[in-house]
Amino acid sequence: WSSDVCSSDLRRRLTMITARMEKEINAQIKAEFESAFIYMGMAAWAHKNGYFGTENFMWKQAKEEEEHAMKLVNYLQDVDATVEIPGIEKPTINYKSILDVFEKGLEHEKYITSRINNLVMISDEEGDYATNDFLQWYVTEQVEEEKTFRNIVKRLKMVGDHANGIFMIDSKLEER
Ligand code: FEO
Repeated sequence: WSSDVCSSDLRRRLTMITARMEKEINAQIKAEFESAFIYMGMAAWAHKNGYFGTENFMWKQAKEEEEHAMKLVNYLQDVDATVEIPGIEKPTINYKSILDVFEKGLEHEKYITSRINNLVMISDEEGDYATNDFLQWYVTEQVEEEKTFRNIVKRLKMVGDHANGIFMIDSKLEER
């Protein structure tokens, strides 16, 4: 084989992260900050409509999303890659009901899970074992994220339109 191919291949492996991986992680930083903003919009809706437990849950969720984003920022810095600070669109503050809020939250988390799985796939394709290992935390976290939203959706469906039931579920969310 040509020694050129060999040395460029080796060089690629010695570089901690590829340009493609860097771009995709930056896109995920944006997606995590967008998640934070979406949940802030839900918190604003919840406050306006008197669902103070849901409001509390969503502010905390937004904070967690910011942490997810920052973990990615720190990782890119650890491997000496370039961090891009994204611009974020204004989120909606219009929802039909508390069930609508959590169903949309669940849908959003499923979308984030698919993004994480895609990132893991790319890290495989790039032969980037460090990033692959780093991303495993997100794989586990997404199981937790989907579960949290799914369980609340299940309970809300259980009580339907009954105000007492909705009030109880919302009050419970104040404990988060
Ligand atoms: Fe950062 Fe809710 O996933």
